[in-house]
Amino acid sequence: MKFFLDTANLEEIRQGVSLGVIDGVTTNPTLIAKEKRPFREHILEICNIVRDGVVNAEVVSTDTENILREAREIATWHPNIVVKIPVIPDGVRALSILSKEGIRVNITLCFSSPQALIVAKAGAYFVSPFLGRLDDISSDGLTLLREIMDIYKAYGYPTQVLAASLRHPLHVIAAARMGAHIGTMPFKVFEQLFKHPLTDRGLEGFQKDWEKARETLGDIFETASARNPKR
Ligand code: E4P
Repeated sequence: MKFFLDTANLEEIRQGVSLGVIDGVTTNPTLIAKEKRPFREHILEICNIVRDGVVNAEVVSTDTENILREAREIATWHPNIVVKIPVIPDGVRALSILSKEGIRVNITLCFSSPQALIVAKAGAYFVSPFLGRLDDISSDGLTLLREIMDIYKAYGYPTQVLAASLRHPLHVIAAARMGAHIGTMPFKVFEQLFKHPLTDRGLEGFQKDWEKARETLGDIFETASARNPKR
């Protein structure tokens, strides 16, 4: 499973990337607006940090002509950019054209399996079902993900499923079990993936015991290497 960070915050992206397990970044107009910097400049800085990873940047127009104009421009900014377009009729029309031009499109704001089926037919590179936002309205985001995975598998569609709007580690694990190609998550959720109280408690115990041993034996590493200099 690929991990994307769902943030436009450079510090969060730097920290995440430093762990070596981040494959890309998703942004949206809300996340970009929070950073208060020119769009292109900010996206290019993200590309610079993520290096070989994919960076998703979204159009803001809602009519085909302007979606096409924005998407074509965004796609020239950097080879690792995937253009995000919402799953509205004008967006699907633009997608059908852009996919034939070889521009990679992430169809966003997907909330139903018919939407996912249509955009796979139109050549989407990624489709982003928003699990958390469905859960918010008492619908089941994971059921949607299951349906999309089944449909794509049945027909062998190459569109990659990008599980989005993930709110907690259980979303990530459920998406991974279903074989979602990618999960995009806020930095906070990414951090939570590492957290376990037994890890913290266990480490605390190891450190205390090590300290106690050092009081009587001195530096255990040095003693061991002095005895076995070849180690
Ligand atoms: C994905 O590309 C979206 O930016 C994102 O996952 C939306 O998540 P939210 O529902 O937490 O805003």
